[in-house]
Amino acid sequence: MQKKINIAILFGGKSAEHEVSVQSAKNVLDVLDRNKYHPILIGIAKSGVWHLTSEDALNTQAAKGGAFKPYDTPIAALTPESRGVLLINGLESPTKIDVVFPVLHGPFGEDGTVQGLLKLAGIPFVGTEALASAVSMDKDVMKRLLRDAGLPIGKFITLKSHESLSFTDAVDKLGTPLFVKPTNMGSSVGVTKVYSEGEFGQALIRAFEYDVKIVLEEYIQGREIECSVLGNEEPLASLPGEVVSSHEFYSYEAKYLDETGARLEIPAKLPPKTVEIIQDMAVKTFKTLCCEGLGRVDFFLKPDGALVVNEINTMPGFTKISMYPKLWGATGLSYSVLIDRLIALAVSRFEKEKRLKTSFF
Ligand SMILES: Nc1ncnc2c1ncn2[C@@H]1O[C@H](COP(=O)(O)OP(=O)(O)O)[C@@H](O)[C@H]1O
Ligand SMILES: [Mg+2]
Repeated sequence: MQKKINIAILFGGKSAEHEVSVQSAKNVLDVLDRNKYHPILIGIAKSGVWHLTSEDALNTQAAKGGAFKPYDTPIAALTPESRGVLLINGLESPTKIDVVFPVLHGPFGEDGTVQGLLKLAGIPFVGTEALASAVSMDKDVMKRLLRDAGLPIGKFITLKSHESLSFTDAVDKLGTPLFVKPTNMGSSVGVTKVYSEGEFGQALIRAFEYDVKIVLEEYIQGREIECSVLGNEEPLASLPGEVVSSHEFYSYEAKYLDETGARLEIPAKLPPKTVEIIQDMAVKTFKTLCCEGLGRVDFFLKPDGALVVNEINTMPGFTKISMYPKLWGATGLSYSVLIDRLIALAVSRFEKEKRLKTSFF
């Protein structure tokens, strides 16, 4: 029998998307082929501390719907000293990790920080590397790269916490309503749709609670279309899906708290030509941002048929109701085959990079 692959699943994290990550990790664990993989669960508490944890603990916590609460003492750490070694306090022999699946959303997980650490530790990992993770997460840098590649994006202004901007100046450039958001966040945390001067001040305060840099955007009226991308050198796009939100916009509440807050239309009802354009644009966005492995590209489709790229998520949700795996399902790729592919892509990139020289001679 072939040796099982030790796969470390990282979840939780120091992020407002911690709870979503717990649900995603449980889902990945549920579909993992146990004949091939041996999962090692590492829960990252909201404090940022890494804990080795059990499947039972993850399942219980996921069922409760809350944050990861470490109750077991061993603290796990990935160390750069020796490749793929997990040091567990109090245990004699370290466990070798073959590949890591960082099922982490948002800051300190999807933004290149963990990716940098894993690269340094010399361990293959699922998803995009540090650079592309960071630029994809930063809505300001992402937009500038997309604009440079000629991809359609909405008008925006970037504002740093030491700078000021009046409502009148913002409206002059963007109109009303307008959107205010932290640059490095996700799950609509800190996002406000602003109609008035009073709301504007509050929206800036709220966005600056999550980041030292924020973006203000023109409101794009349109359908919200999402497309999954998978691959390294030759990425493929799935059929697009649509999010139909019953709220003012696709807010945190609509995404996670209100069961009737949003409906997913999979696949989206679109003319074949539009599907093709969306798929091409999704792949171009993915490549422009130097992504690898996986990404979900989100668009607005305006009533006149024009498309606007809103953002890319380099570690999209993997919960039971998440768009990324569901779109692949609709395109003919089952959840467990998808996970297999992602792991294979991680290993193939690692092997390719391993061949690179690290010295002049
Ligand atoms: N410029 C915009 N025009 C219209 N709706 C927007 C705009 N920006 C954001 N939204 C709404 O807010 C949601 C969250 O914004 P998004 O940029 O996707 O942030 P996040 O990274 O938190 O998901 C979007 O899904 C959409 O419903
Ligand atoms: Mg979004």
